Amino acid sequence: MEQPTLLRLSGLETGYGAVSVLKGIDLEVRSGEIVALLGSNGSGKTTTINAISGVIPLWAGSVEYNGRRVDGLHPSAIVKLRLVQCPEGRQLFPSLTVLENLKLGGYSRSLSTAEMRTEIDQIYQLFPVLQERRQQMAGTLSGGQQQMLAIGRALMARPTLLIMDEPSLGLAPLLVSQLFNLIGQINRMGTTILLVEQNAAASLKIAHRAYVLESGRIALSGPAGDLLNDARVREVYLGL
Ligand SMILES: Nc1ncnc2c1ncn2[C@@H]1O[C@H](COP(=O)(O)OP(=O)(O)O)[C@@H](O)[C@H]1O
Ligand SMILES: [Mg+2]
Repeated sequence: MEQPTLLRLSGLETGYGAVSVLKGIDLEVRSGEIVALLGSNGSGKTTTINAISGVIPLWAGSVEYNGRRVDGLHPSAIVKLRLVQCPEGRQLFPSLTVLENLKLGGYSRSLSTAEMRTEIDQIYQLFPVLQERRQQMAGTLSGGQQQMLAIGRALMARPTLLIMDEPSLGLAPLLVSQLFNLIGQINRMGTTILLVEQNAAASLKIAHRAYVLESGRIALSGPAGDLLNDARVREVYLGL
């Protein structure tokens, strides 16, 4: 049975200053899905998710989440609705410890000390290395560990919908495959995921459906398996 729509972008347009970037994006994420948003550098992926998260205003169109309009809400109000973005380039607090970064991730939820501890233990189960390094400053972690911390911190907000911006960027190939396994695992544990990536092949293997952005427009979309198996799509859009 088809799941209800969790996120719906309709005719989304925005840009920077006078420069138009997104020229009418229609996109849907249903509960339980991993949806990949693919596209080359500069195609508008980050702009799309910053518009969803309330970081930049819309020029036209709408963002519906859980059946209500959320465009125009403050980013912090959107996080409280459990729509959480794990930003590109990690954006951790480098001079705070691993543990302090995780606590900040739970900040939107006003947890008690005991609840906070339970939640952090769950994150440590998912990422044992974060427990080992809990007193280490985030800025001294390796790239892969920082990425795990960024995901752990986003999970501390208990997302219903987790948006990830290029989580595999800059990671060694072995870490990339671990990361994609982990994203699949987080999804199976009940989190819906909008996955922004340039790594089309790996994303399409774990995603249910995908959209390809090209110069601020959706150039194509469909079930991930169909895109992965279409020779023309592979060559023209995915560079595979
Ligand atoms: N803060 C900004 N100010 C002006 N232009 C921007 C800004 N951020 C992105 N852009 C432009 O918007 C377009 C889309 O960028 P972006 O959404 O970051 O693409 P992607 O995430 O797919 O690489 C690019 O042409 C980029 O140069
Ligand atoms: Mg980007």
